[in-house]
Amino acid sequence: MRQVFICQHRTCTKDGATKIWEIFKHQEISNVAIKTCGCMGLCGSGPMVVIRPDNVYYWHVTPQKAHAIIEMHLLGDTPIQSMMHPRLHQQ
Ligand code: FES
Repeated sequence: MRQVFICQHRTCTKDGATKIWEIFKHQEISNVAIKTCGCMGLCGSGPMVVIRPDNVYYWHVTPQKAHAIIEMHLLGDTPIQSMMHPRLHQQ
């Protein structure tokens, strides 16, 4: 079971995370649970979306990027390297 965590704490919310949550929460993808979470210590990089157990940290997620994550990562099993947090993922 994959889990998607969408930070809904203050800084990410200020950067647009509510809209990102609204996009993800309507998705019904088998074996994928969509959850909100608190601050993950990456404020300023938000909206942050983390996929477990893949351990992929997507940063500055826009609505367009959210749809790409759904299509490519969650449905297509292809993580999107170019959208991952560069400090946490080797490019
Ligand atoms: S508020 Fe989202 S990482 Fe801190």
